[in-house]
Amino acid sequence: MININGLDNLHKIVVMNPKGGCGKTTLATNLASLYAERGPTPTLVDCDPQGFSMRWLEKRPATRPTVHGIEAYTSGEPLAARVKPESRALIFDLPAAIPNEQLQNYTYAADSILIPIMPSAVDVYSATRFIADMLVDQQLDRREQKLVIVANRVRSNTKSYQMLRSFLASLDIPMIAVLRDSQNYVHAIAQGIGLCELPSYRTKDDIQQIDAIYTWLGRQRAKVRIFPSTEQRQGMIADIAFRRAQDRDFQGGDPLTDWAEAERELNETLFSSADG
Ligand SMILES: Nc1ncnc2c1ncn2[C@@H]1O[C@H](COP(=O)(O)OP(=O)(O)OP(=O)(O)O)[C@@H](O)[C@H]1O
Ligand SMILES: [Mg+2]
Repeated sequence: MININGLDNLHKIVVMNPKGGCGKTTLATNLASLYAERGPTPTLVDCDPQGFSMRWLEKRPATRPTVHGIEAYTSGEPLAARVKPESRALIFDLPAAIPNEQLQNYTYAADSILIPIMPSAVDVYSATRFIADMLVDQQLDRREQKLVIVANRVRSNTKSYQMLRSFLASLDIPMIAVLRDSQNYVHAIAQGIGLCELPSYRTKDDIQQIDAIYTWLGRQRAKVRIFPSTEQRQGMIADIAFRRAQDRDFQGGDPLTDWAEAERELNETLFSSADG
């Protein structure tokens, strides 16, 4: 099982939808290319044994900015040990079929969840069930606002697109971008690049939508909880302990002994409050 807990300080972006072929890999690879171009350095985490994201990465020209890749479906070290230190954004490309307990792990630990949906009756029906499951069974808290929709392969103003819009409005879930049905996506994926790396005259109708996703993700990133490392934490405790010992004029007369005592007290307080 792929466990995405414990990847603190990293922006965990999950692209999911159990409907096959709705555009998960297309969206994930485009996000990876976008982050490579604009930062922070991304890692594309392929969770699908079909390995399409990794194949995209293999085709990526060496001259393009770096996207790291992790084949998460191959057994190996925990993900945290496989992420390169310079990478701050993890983009998870999920397979269509995911066991329920694994879905829970993604839903809980993700900072941002993007669901690509195609505007067809079948896709909207299956998305309704999936999103309802997430809200009810997975207890996804809507107030966290971490789940959004990206409409994909849209030919504007068709009946099915209108149906998708009204369905989302009824659920009160934002649709942050509308990606056209365009050969640009097919050409980009075949070359190991993203839409933002194609010549701009070819993508002028699409790039605004890609920008909208980047902007939303930027806001989500600001919410990622930052935990200090163990060393940083011990350093902070030592500083506070020193001030505490100084304020009480170094009880017992020996500054070093009282500093150590103040540090022990602080650790005890923090440890017991974490327990309780
Ligand atoms: N906006 C788009 N315009 C044109 N073609 C698209 C678009 N998005 C995806 N496609 C094409 O649709 C097909 C399925 O897309 P993709 O592989 O991204 O779906 P997926 O959800 O990852 O599928 P799976 O569930 O099998 O993992 C691909 O051939 C892709 O090139
Ligand atoms: Mg895929």
